[in-house]
Amino acid sequence: MKRKLKVAVIGCGFMGRTHTNAHRQVANFFDVGIEPVLEVACATDADRAQAFADKWGFTSGSGDWREVMGRDDIDLVDICVPNNLHAEMAIAAAEAGKMILCEKPLAMDVAEGRKMVDAVEKAGVANLVSFNYRRVPAVTLAKQLIDQGKLGKIFHYRAQFLQDWTISTEVPQGGTATWRLDSAAAGSGVTGDLLAHCIDTAMWQNGPITRANAMTETFVKERVHADTGETQPVGIDDACTFFCRFENGSLGNFESTRYARGHKAKYTFEINGEHASIRWDLHDLHRLEWSDHRDDEEVRGWRSIHVTDAGGEHPYMDHWWVPGLQIGYAESFVHQLADFLGAIEEGKPCSPSFRDALQTQKVCAAVLESAAEDRWVDVPAD
Ligand SMILES: NC(=O)c1ccc[n+]([C@@H]2O[C@H](COP(=O)([O-])OP(=O)(O)OC[C@H]3O[C@@H](n4cnc5c(N)ncnc54)[C@H](O)[C@@H]3O)[C@@H](O)[C@H]2O)c1
Repeated sequence: MKRKLKVAVIGCGFMGRTHTNAHRQVANFFDVGIEPVLEVACATDADRAQAFADKWGFTSGSGDWREVMGRDDIDLVDICVPNNLHAEMAIAAAEAGKMILCEKPLAMDVAEGRKMVDAVEKAGVANLVSFNYRRVPAVTLAKQLIDQGKLGKIFHYRAQFLQDWTISTEVPQGGTATWRLDSAAAGSGVTGDLLAHCIDTAMWQNGPITRANAMTETFVKERVHADTGETQPVGIDDACTFFCRFENGSLGNFESTRYARGHKAKYTFEINGEHASIRWDLHDLHRLEWSDHRDDEEVRGWRSIHVTDAGGEHPYMDHWWVPGLQIGYAESFVHQLADFLGAIEEGKPCSPSFRDALQTQKVCAAVLESAAEDRWVDVPAD
């Protein structure tokens, strides 16, 4: 008999759907001793929350997140709301003794992130931040190959996350999805939204980033605000490029923009080591490319590994179909939840915890400070 974990999903937008889908699927595909029960879905609008609850199979909907935090029957709070609400909700959830799964970025800034870390650690509640790309099997395989030493010493880590959806000056700031363009709701632009993913994955695979030197640009300086109808200055970074140093001596090169015409969500990374290189592309997320200098010269070159073997060779894939059949984006959230529930069952922490995500927040802060002041900025280790 599985232990039931009553879940409140706060936010019924894009991430509300991916997380709810994961809660529904996880027990069917992963043999963990804990099963999520969809108890309440919460949004700003009670009717919308109820419609979401009905559609996805929650017991009820609510338009009041504070009332949800106060309920004794909720075990896990799953925070899927804009960034400016993460801290208040997570701290309230921790004080109420709830386990917390929180969307990324952890917080609006480092000071807020520290308060969130203090709250979960003081309360002793299980916590995880949703940097889900770590749990794409090909990305996890890349980490395993690095840890096994197959690349040798790492020289370079480069990552890009390119989009093109805000080029039009007609895109508003504020409102569903477009809150990302409003600095009061998002904190920052591509740095916190997209580069935070790249930074989390990079530090997980290649160790801490110690220093950064960045430039940012806001190409569209004013936009109409969806809430007020007024044209207001844009406070977010539309594009960000930064160089950095990793503690292991390797050099990092990161770029993100929402102005790369033709790209929808082009997240790529390439890692160059002494013996081999690997590269990955979200648009072909089940493949990992590998080039090994130790291969015989006549066959040396890039090979494309279809990361779908189900005999234990490829991470997570033994839980899905048969070799050769791929999975996609949604499943990274199922993996994330399976790992979190497994850790809860064993009473162990799960990474990236709030504390791990705080380190990513510090790199984002160093990047933004560097761009603002046009100089190298150190990333504090503590
Ligand atoms: N892990 C990823 O790949 C990924 C992808 C997209 C977004 N995100 C993160 O997920 C979070 C949500 O983004 P989204 O794309 O789902 O946004 P969204 O605009 O699609 O949905 C936001 C939801 O939050 C709800 N909400 C807003 N204020 C609320 C309040 N006071 N009480 C209750 N509900 C409230 C809205 O009703 C809406 O349902 C953000 O932190 C974002 O950075 C992560």
